[in-house]
Amino acid sequence: MYGAGRLERRNVVEYETAARLAVRAGRPEFADCLLTMAEVEWDHEQYFRSRVLVHCLAARVPMWPAPPPKGEIRASFERAMRARVPADSTMEQTHALDLSNG
Ligand SMILES: [Fe+2]
Repeated sequence: MYGAGRLERRNVVEYETAARLAVRAGRPEFADCLLTMAEVEWDHEQYFRSRVLVHCLAARVPMWPAPPPKGEIRASFERAMRARVPADSTMEQTHALDLSNG
């Protein structure tokens, strides 16, 4: 359960990144599906987190960072799309723009 939860948390970010890259690659029609997959992975992460937290050893195991609220998946995508991001910028720069835009 613990490993699955950590994996699901990474999957959320990977689908968010894939949605941004799809738009940059000129295939915006894939963005909505990829964001939906990010939301599904968010649900999975919540399930595994809830299972880990009720385990008798939960207090002894450091939890992975919780994801932002589910609505932030699409909100941050919209902010990224509104931002003027140069086509050759890195994903780290894109995420920095996401954070600076609130
Ligand atoms: Fe999953």
